[in-house]
Amino acid sequence: MPLQTVGTVIKNKRIQSLYYLLEIYCPSIANQIKPGQFMMLKVSDDRSPLLRRPFSVYKSYPGNHPDKGKRGRLFILYKTVGKGTQKMTTFRKGQKVDLIAPLGNGFRLPPLPSFTSVILLGGGVGIASLYPLAEMVDNRKLSIFVGGKTQNDILCVTDFKKMNSTIFIATEDGSLGFKGTVIDLFLSQLNKFKRNETTYLYSCGPVGMLRALTERVKFKQFICQASLEARMGCGFGACWGCVVKTNHPQTPYQRVCKDGPVFHLKDIVWEL
Ligand SMILES: Cc1cc2nc3c(=O)[nH]c(=O)nc-3n(C[C@H](O)[C@H](O)[C@H](O)COP(=O)(O)OP(=O)(O)OC[C@H]3O[C@@H](n4cnc5c(N)ncnc54)[C@H](O)[C@@H]3O)c2cc1C
Ligand code: FES
Repeated sequence: MPLQTVGTVIKNKRIQSLYYLLEIYCPSIANQIKPGQFMMLKVSDDRSPLLRRPFSVYKSYPGNHPDKGKRGRLFILYKTVGKGTQKMTTFRKGQKVDLIAPLGNGFRLPPLPSFTSVILLGGGVGIASLYPLAEMVDNRKLSIFVGGKTQNDILCVTDFKKMNSTIFIATEDGSLGFKGTVIDLFLSQLNKFKRNETTYLYSCGPVGMLRALTERVKFKQFICQASLEARMGCGFGACWGCVVKTNHPQTPYQRVCKDGPVFHLKDIVWEL
């Protein structure tokens, strides 16, 4: 059940280039939020910008976490792109932040057999929303594809390296790893995934990336879930400002905030 609550900023620091890591103490949300769900964060106490901004949770530690020092903490990995995210860079230790969460449906986890392969494929800051999934599926066959325009856009790799996973990196300018898009890299590695085994593929990133994935991946081999991004007015289903077209016969237009943000990629009808 979403709740509006107030968290306290523990830390807010620039990690690289345009990317910041915001750490908030907010046990009520840390106890509830699941991989792929998001929060609406009030970025300003005045009216500019007026609307809350949606953010995924990169890491969260519930009240029963073994490391007592981490309990109740949430991390948001964000990229500064406009007024709201610029304002967030001014958040200081001890400052109160108003949050509504948990919102959205979240990722559906793969069924349990330990042979199930799991692929995470993220572009830019989209990889942050996949990190909680990686923590949950760590004991399975996990392959992680991380992409960005340049090496400055490659995120979370240090954390992924601590897991039992195979990591693939692509940059469009070739400054790190494979030169090309993360989709090109993924397609070049397809032979690594057994054709007779269902592979769960989870993705998050820019629309262009998700669209390319839809067009170029055979859905028979992969069950693809994607977390979509959309401009959001309310974040909880009231304004219909975030709709995406799907191939559901009864309800073709679905709200990214309420019916998503996670959808099966095969259900999305890209309109751009
Ligand atoms: C479910 C969800 C989870 C998200 N999680 C994260 C996250 O973990 N980290 C992160 O950095 N960002 C995340 N975003 C995107 C983030 O919400 C936007 O970057 C932010 O709202 C921009 O606010 P702004 O005021 O700085 O930019 P604005 O001034 O509002 O816009 C600046 C530029 O960014 C583009 N933009 C703004 N919002 C979006 C959006 N939602 N999708 C695509 N383009 C947008 C605009 O078109 C414009 O070009 C998420 C979005 C959604 C819907
Ligand atoms: S943002 Fe209002 S319905 Fe989705």
